[in-house]
Amino acid sequence: MHDEIAIESILKEKRKFKPQPEFAKAAHIASTKAYNQMHREAEKNFERFWARMAKEHVSWFTPWKKTLQWKLPFAKWFVGAKTNVSYNCIDRHVEGPNAWRRNKAAIIWEGEPGDRRVITYGELHREVQKFANVLKSLGVKKGDRVGLYMPMVPELAVAMLACTRIGAPHTIIFGGFSADSIRDRLNDAKAKLVVTADGGWRRGSIVPLKEMVDQAVGDVPTVENVVVVRRTEQQIVMKEERDHWWHDLMESASDVCAPAKLDAEHPLFILYTSGTTGKPKGVLHTTGGYLVHTTVTSKYIFDLKEEDTYWCTADIGWITGHSYVVYGILSNGATSLMYEGAPNFPDVERFWQIIDRYKVTIFYTAPTAIRTFMRWGDAHIKKYRLDSLRLLGTVGEPINPEAWMWYRKLIGKNRCPIVDTWWQTETGGILISPVPGAVTTTPGSATRPFPGIFPDIVDENGEPTRKKDAGGYLVLTKPWPGMLRGIYGDPQRYKEQYWSRFKGLYFAGDGARRDKDGNFWVMGRVDDVMNVAGHRLSTMEIESALVSHPKVAEAAVVGRPDEIKGTGVVGFVSLEANETPDEALREALRKHVAREIGPIARPDEVRFTDALPKTRSGKIMRRLLRDIAAGREVVGDTTTLEDYSVLAKLRGDED
Ligand code: WTA
Repeated sequence: MHDEIAIESILKEKRKFKPQPEFAKAAHIASTKAYNQMHREAEKNFERFWARMAKEHVSWFTPWKKTLQWKLPFAKWFVGAKTNVSYNCIDRHVEGPNAWRRNKAAIIWEGEPGDRRVITYGELHREVQKFANVLKSLGVKKGDRVGLYMPMVPELAVAMLACTRIGAPHTIIFGGFSADSIRDRLNDAKAKLVVTADGGWRRGSIVPLKEMVDQAVGDVPTVENVVVVRRTEQQIVMKEERDHWWHDLMESASDVCAPAKLDAEHPLFILYTSGTTGKPKGVLHTTGGYLVHTTVTSKYIFDLKEEDTYWCTADIGWITGHSYVVYGILSNGATSLMYEGAPNFPDVERFWQIIDRYKVTIFYTAPTAIRTFMRWGDAHIKKYRLDSLRLLGTVGEPINPEAWMWYRKLIGKNRCPIVDTWWQTETGGILISPVPGAVTTTPGSATRPFPGIFPDIVDENGEPTRKKDAGGYLVLTKPWPGMLRGIYGDPQRYKEQYWSRFKGLYFAGDGARRDKDGNFWVMGRVDDVMNVAGHRLSTMEIESALVSHPKVAEAAVVGRPDEIKGTGVVGFVSLEANETPDEALREALRKHVAREIGPIARPDEVRFTDALPKTRSGKIMRRLLRDIAAGREVVGDTTTLEDYSVLAKLRGDED
């Protein structure tokens, strides 16, 4: 673990915040006693616990024969049951005992330019059925994969739900990814159809989504049709026969499409995420277990109530948006607020305006965003009431206690509980988090596992660390309903990646510590994955992007601490013979990575070196590079070529 400094600093964290009685009284889990009781129930028999949750929170067409079939590392939950995600997210709110929700807002949406829409459950019901019929009319059948490369507009949620309605797994590609990344993902998923938009708004400019799709799908033989939502209205090229306008197709589509009765283990979606190799992995989630997990955690962790206006600021292109903008929230019949654009457009007060305008009650965002707000200054926040808020959440990266305290004071006015939620693309839903109203929180800790979830901390040999405060590797000892079912098309990689490091345990790739109260402190990645502004990036992926530049001979990428983003990306590059390092090339390389992978992967810094420091066996000495990148190891003028291998020799390092 190379995060000793962080461990040191949080060991000193002693502040504790007990649930406030007024909050607890009204909460779904109203006391520590009730919470402990839930834990005990789950510890006694976790399958029975999840079966009860599944029965109480999800509607099924056919009940299951077996709650869990566990052939390590392959899990099947609710075996034999049939359900449908779109039915749970929509139909059950417009028919039967909850039909009154027909005219309740499902999605409150605000576009970046300031346009606004409210989509009721009734309207969502119509739109989703229509788009499901559109998909069918374009030849999409149960099991076919659909790629979604879209801005944060309601049509994205409609498209997702329409896919689930007919059993066509979607794969959403975040709008910040490049044409190359789109192509690779669509090819890996063998997508049959793509939904996109002419463009999306970002900080006042147009992100040319359709243009990217055009560049990508030329090399994706399986894509037959592209459906285009009109959003930014600039001129785009529509390829005859292949491309169709969303509004044209919707105009004539029937608004009746019965939800398919799908097996609980029917694939729901594939979401690509960075791993420890150069190739992103397609994390596969299925229907029943994922739905149970996201529905139940949404309800209890966000204490979601009928009258809440819930806002998660994540883009739907990430897992947080899948689980906690769309599926878990709508399945509860709640109101989900969606904002299309940047937090600093037209100015840095946009988020606080939105909270006051719609009287947002629950606000869920990332530590990077919180640290950015801190830097923008308190004056911008103090102008707003923010008195509608009653609960705050964080996700995606460790939160430093300072940011946590600031969040509590400036945004939560010392009134709102904070839920620091730890989970991953692979876990489908939240695994470790306080339950507000029942769990005492402490800044920087995600506290306790959700009932029915069994994490542990182990040492190098997979032995549980029993010593309090000892650091180790975060693992899960039992399967859980929302867990990934595999890596799409690559069961071997699934086994190797998650289940081979420690026998019989799921290895999350994070380092963690457990304190004397039993609280978990997640310290960050211990593998070659970096967490940059809450986004996962693989060092290998960026290295291969750098090396694909004709002037680059070799590259090594490491993270360095960054005050705002948590981690910044530094690329060490050695050039082909006869190439000269200069500012222009440095800039060109940063741009090259942005083009290859997407702007989110653009290195903060590129440093040139004659040679990369290596061990005798030829392994790059990443620890040394990390020290240099972080400024813990001082080297000369960074604008010229540095010979790190000499430094390594002097130190006699072996990584
Ligand atoms: C990190 C995002 C500390 C962690 C939902 C994990 C966190 C990775 C937290 C997954 C948290 C997420 N505290 N670290 N509350 N939440 N992480 O797949 O390193 O984008 O492995 O899923 O983010 O990132 P992913």
